[in-house]
Amino acid sequence: MRKQFFTFGIAAFLMTLAFHFFFKISSIIPLVIAVLLVIGLMNSLQQRHAILRNFPVLGYFRYIFEGIAPEIQQYFIERTTDGKPFSRNERSLAYQRAKNIDATTPFGTQLDINQSNYEGIRHSVFPAKVNHELPRIVVGGPDCKQPYSASLLNISAMSFGSLSENAIIALNKGAQKGNFYHNTGEGGLTEFHLQGGDVTWQIGTGYFGCRTDEGNFDAEKFTEKSNLPSVKMIEIKLSQGAKPGHGGVLPASKNTEQIAKIRGVKPHTTILSPPSHTAFNNAEGLIKFVAQLRELSNGKPVGFKLCIGQTNEFELICQEMILQNCFPDFVTIDGAEGGTGAAPLEFSDGVGMPFEPALIFANKILIRLNIRDKIRVIGSGKIISGYSILRAIAMGADMCNSARGFMFSLGCIQALRCNTNNCPTGVATQDKMLMKGLVVTDKSERVFYYHKNTLHAANELLAAAGKSSYNEIDGSIFMRGDEFAHLADLYFPDNLTNVTKY
Ligand SMILES: Cc1cc2nc3c(=O)[nH]c(=O)nc-3n(C[C@H](O)[C@H](O)[C@H](O)COP(=O)(O)O)c2cc1C
Repeated sequence: MRKQFFTFGIAAFLMTLAFHFFFKISSIIPLVIAVLLVIGLMNSLQQRHAILRNFPVLGYFRYIFEGIAPEIQQYFIERTTDGKPFSRNERSLAYQRAKNIDATTPFGTQLDINQSNYEGIRHSVFPAKVNHELPRIVVGGPDCKQPYSASLLNISAMSFGSLSENAIIALNKGAQKGNFYHNTGEGGLTEFHLQGGDVTWQIGTGYFGCRTDEGNFDAEKFTEKSNLPSVKMIEIKLSQGAKPGHGGVLPASKNTEQIAKIRGVKPHTTILSPPSHTAFNNAEGLIKFVAQLRELSNGKPVGFKLCIGQTNEFELICQEMILQNCFPDFVTIDGAEGGTGAAPLEFSDGVGMPFEPALIFANKILIRLNIRDKIRVIGSGKIISGYSILRAIAMGADMCNSARGFMFSLGCIQALRCNTNNCPTGVATQDKMLMKGLVVTDKSERVFYYHKNTLHAANELLAAAGKSSYNEIDGSIFMRGDEFAHLADLYFPDNLTNVTKY
């Protein structure tokens, strides 16, 4: 192709030049051809890109189309039930709820409900009355001095760094208005999280915000921040579903001077939080750390978040709680299908237990060890609608966190650019220009409405199932596929269907 390009290019250049001199035709065309020839020459000499060496100018189209492939897919190819990780239908639902506009759909379901993987709720012919109050649940086990009354739906961990300053402020203000909590993510507690909303402060392996110069846990800094009135709960991050066993990743492009200062790291470098904690390295140490944080925070609820991998390890941790007679106030179970700002594909696609079996497993172990009544279970894994909340509760969660649902409420369009600093909606970027597109006053209202309308939808489903309390929900209200098998029967062959909660 190179040969044809230069033969044709030089011929075209000479012809247009001749036309210019003899017939006084504009000099722009030979000039453009000359520029293309120079670019072509440079590309055919470079050694990094084979496509550009072989197709010195046409090769650029491949990069252009590759760059806009997600948009082409989303705008022209995707059907309403397609789209990954979230379908167009799911995204639209979140947008409509966030805008507080009609979120009904016309003409009936588009799902093929005769497939064996179809599942739905077994409604009652005697529906209960819909509760218009949004459900809450108290978190705080026997050792907690400052129990917290949490909403059933809250904002899952997403750091400042991963999300923009405006996004964090809008989330926090929305949380304040709707009286639910906002998890800081592992990037530390910043002024943008302290806009009046309740906060769960997450402590990751980087200990950002409570870190010594060597990068270890700093008890003094932790005590100071954890005792702030906005901090309602503390979450130790063991792992996250999208990259369990890897640790956080903040790409260099998003590590601005401001973020580096907050985290105490070097700006414009990729920040990899270590995969494991230095404050502990086994189950015994983890439970001691829970006790230490509870004491330093003056008895606030302390829990940990993990994506389950080796099931015996979770069992060991639970046995350690019994041994030390020290129970975390909550455990957050994250599914491997969870979201992230940036993760290696091997980790996103190939590590960790998905949400459903993980939640069922964790709940089962807690019941078996007779400690379920001391610990709240928080579920996070593609919670986006009232249906997914009910489903998580049926499988053993007491309450839920949503990350990407709230990102949609901020205007995220699933452009899949969180790791590039080019998020077009200003949600997951540190680019000040892009961030300006996200207007805090408008988006905080959307965060508020998304939470309110989603929980109201969950209340409606609860009533449709003939139940008046979330404590009455278990796997038996769900059916799956044409066998109409109960989820409970699928997952609990030993018929352990009833979940004892406190
Ligand atoms: C942009 C982004 C940043 C995240 N940052 C963190 C984090 O700092 N700490 C953490 O534990 N989880 C983090 N997560 C994971 C979420 O908190 C959540 O566990 C996961 O995405 C599953 O919830 P979802 O399906 O509602 O998104 C992040 C997720 C996203 C999308």
